[in-house]
Amino acid sequence: MEKIIINGGKRLIGEVEISGAKNAALPILAASILTEGWNTFSNVPNLRDVETIKKLLIGLGVKVEEEKDVRINAAGLNNYEAPYDLVKTMRASVLVLGPLLARLKKAKVALPGGCAIGARPINLHLNGLAALGAKVDLKHGYVEAEAKSLKGATIFFDIPTVTGTENLMMAATLADGVTTLENAACEPEVVDLANVLKKMGADIRGEGTEVITIEGVKELKSTNHTIIPDRIEAGTFMVAAGITAGDIKVRNCNIAHMDAVFSKLTEAGIKLTYENDGVRVIGTKPIRSIDIKTLPYPGFPTDMQAQMMVLMCFANGTSIISETVFENRFMHVSELRRMGADIRIEGRSAIVKGVSGLNGAPVMATDLRASASLILAGLASEGKTEISRIYHIDRGYERIVEKLSNLGADIKRVRD
Ligand code: EPU
Repeated sequence: MEKIIINGGKRLIGEVEISGAKNAALPILAASILTEGWNTFSNVPNLRDVETIKKLLIGLGVKVEEEKDVRINAAGLNNYEAPYDLVKTMRASVLVLGPLLARLKKAKVALPGGCAIGARPINLHLNGLAALGAKVDLKHGYVEAEAKSLKGATIFFDIPTVTGTENLMMAATLADGVTTLENAACEPEVVDLANVLKKMGADIRGEGTEVITIEGVKELKSTNHTIIPDRIEAGTFMVAAGITAGDIKVRNCNIAHMDAVFSKLTEAGIKLTYENDGVRVIGTKPIRSIDIKTLPYPGFPTDMQAQMMVLMCFANGTSIISETVFENRFMHVSELRRMGADIRIEGRSAIVKGVSGLNGAPVMATDLRASASLILAGLASEGKTEISRIYHIDRGYERIVEKLSNLGADIKRVRD
């Protein structure tokens, strides 16, 4: 088992390059299933979750090659089952459901269980596929879906679901007739997937809004695409600069995707300046306390909640952070308390009282973004922080230890 060890208190200075977005890469790699030629994807981040989706695709008979870019050819697709072994390590494996059903008319995907941040059902994915005419059964822990042909339909999502919107959008590209997704997710990652599908020949309109219309086509062709930058990784580095009174330039981020995060960082007193090759981030004191409520895009992203909570631990007052997307995304709170944070949970809100400082401690990562928050806390704490169970961080942050250490952090990975 590996650990991350941080000796806190170093100001971060320098430049950091943001990697491709995990949550765009996963559905886009899955979308290759819809085509039979070679697809070439650039800016694919080197992450554990990306390795998992590649493994899943290979198991379905898909060819995956990788040098700088990732090349995928699904001509040999000959299996329609996503096994529990892979799904249990990554819920996003469910993203093969829609494309498998569209291409092979059959899919068998292990039902993901609950996870550290909430129950996370996939009922909206399944209801949507049933509305397109699929027969969907749950048997022995698997979703089994079958359809002689998929037919366009109007699907209303009770909650805007990111991977649900992506699954249905992929399934509808090859359905007969028009599908309308209402109350669809508007996340930039959904738009990036739509852009890839359109390059493949899909007829999609309205992506990035709450109503997406897809007119089915007979077939899709292979394409090339560069994955968008990871807005959550970018936001995490911006908090790292803010919390250490640092001065860094964040390169290769798309500021158009980051309005809510920019506005909250600015409100907290962090200086953000647009320069032509990136965003300069300067942490100033005092950090101001602010309230945050997570919401679907364009609201404040739940994937930045834990990181902002750490920033608020160093603010000059009390902040209320409300988590409305996932019901159990406060697992980092008890670990932050061990470092001296003053945080109280009331229902779906965390009341964070700024303290004069945190002190390093042994802590345990519980999920991806919680791990990021513990690293941030360690960077700004006095003394040594030892973070265990760091495999979570490798799921979603490419070379984070190296990137932070290039900015001057005293951080290393060690084997137990
Ligand atoms: N929901 C349902 N039924 C469904 C689907 C969702 O009730 O069928 C609920 C969920 O339980 C949750 C809410 O709807 O309360 C929103 O969940 P959503 O489906 O949008 O989440 P997701 O698609 O499973 C993606 C990201 C998550 C990110 C969320 C919210 C990917 C691969 N994952 O998950 O990313 O937190 O959207 O923005 O895109 C992460 O990167 O750390 C991460 C967890």
